[in-house]
Amino acid sequence: MTKRLFIKTYGCQMNVYDSARMADLMAPFGYAVAAGPEDADLVILNTCHIREKAAEKTFSELGTIRRYQRAREREGGRMIVAVGGCVAQAEGAEILERAPFVDIVFGPQAYHRLPEMVARAAAEQVLDTSFPAEYLPETFAAPGFSAFLTVQEGCDKFCTFCVVPYTRGAEYSRPAAKIIAEAGQLAAAGAREITLLGQNVNAYHGASPEGGVWGLGELIGALAGIPGIARLRYTTSHPCDVDDALIAAHRDVPALMPFLHLPVQSGSDRVLAAMNRRHTAGQYRRTVERLRRARSDIALSSDFIVGFPGESEADFRATTDLVRDIGYAQAFSFKYSPRPGTPAASAPVQIPEPAKAERLAILQALLHEQQRAFNQSYVGEVLPVLFEKPGRHPGQLVGRSPYLQSVHAEAGAERIGEIVPVTIRAALPNSLAGEIAPRAEHRA
Ligand code: 5AD
Ligand code: SF4
Repeated sequence: MTKRLFIKTYGCQMNVYDSARMADLMAPFGYAVAAGPEDADLVILNTCHIREKAAEKTFSELGTIRRYQRAREREGGRMIVAVGGCVAQAEGAEILERAPFVDIVFGPQAYHRLPEMVARAAAEQVLDTSFPAEYLPETFAAPGFSAFLTVQEGCDKFCTFCVVPYTRGAEYSRPAAKIIAEAGQLAAAGAREITLLGQNVNAYHGASPEGGVWGLGELIGALAGIPGIARLRYTTSHPCDVDDALIAAHRDVPALMPFLHLPVQSGSDRVLAAMNRRHTAGQYRRTVERLRRARSDIALSSDFIVGFPGESEADFRATTDLVRDIGYAQAFSFKYSPRPGTPAASAPVQIPEPAKAERLAILQALLHEQQRAFNQSYVGEVLPVLFEKPGRHPGQLVGRSPYLQSVHAEAGAERIGEIVPVTIRAALPNSLAGEIAPRAEHRA
């Protein structure tokens, strides 16, 4: 009999990807994905610890799940509840203690063992937050036309605000030969675009097939040669790890899309030093200049934190100055939120909430205006769009431009998976609207 599996995913792209893989792993055991937790046989919360009150959120969500679990028990059934991801990694034992109805707690490095943990959960509570010595082989179902591929995990940077080095562990790069083989499988299964994933993806330094070491630039060069792969992307990068080979890849590899998420966090050297970011605003500016010389149309995205401990008005102005100088196509910005156990959480001068909120509003207004102007600049232009799925309205498809803009246009479902030239007609706040350009010879 088919069993129902409900996964609630919080946080980053890595978690979205891990959740998809958990569903793949459970499918051979008869678990089909359900839309809600109500009468699921297995509920997984795939948690994120990076911002906000993650642990409290998890416990409150577990309260809701507990009610469904009780209802199930009253009917004589069973609902297995599992908590995975970074909150599980950080607070594993506490979860089992405070929420004893939870059956399984597992860290982000342990989800490969999910079927085994579910089987064991029949008899006992399971806690697995170990880090494997070696990244385990991958299994996956049909990837879709735009697929994700993990090349690197963990982080050794220890930015003073960040929990990732504690929850995701030390930096580990997968061997290039394995990545190339998997990319080949993805391409054979129909993927046209692959996004290489890693917490600190451009710190990649994996064993090369010839026995040396490759950085991300070299890896991208090799992946671009795989038949069927028309587009490559990667995320998330650290400014210090943008090396010559990566810049050269942006110049020389046509499949490498002209979009880069390169978080800077702050424009103030004082704050950058306190964050342990290991670079100055000037160094970031020069890296961007070099990237733009290599690929003049490269679109940039970033993460920003406002209200970091000790951030003055002048520090904050340095951030808005940097934003004005660089010009972003899109960006994410957050109020600083103290993460227990990280150095910045115990810094003496915490910024009051109203100042954080005011700075965030100013920064976001500026970033939204830049995003609007960026999108507007493509109205009337033709962009190649990889159509990925049906749009919100019947007869429409949505896909991505090279600059990661979401583009919708009227097109038949048979064009899903194709890269089609689209004339952009309108720029909306978060997407573009267009119509398929008449010339078929544009197809790439
Ligand atoms: N407070 C606010 N934002 C944070 N980020 C990471 N940790 C924190 C924190 N403690 C943001 C950073 C990072 C992004 C993924 O989340 O901007 O780049
Ligand atoms: Fe966290 Fe990124 Fe800094 Fe690593 S580089 S500690 S993941 S913010």
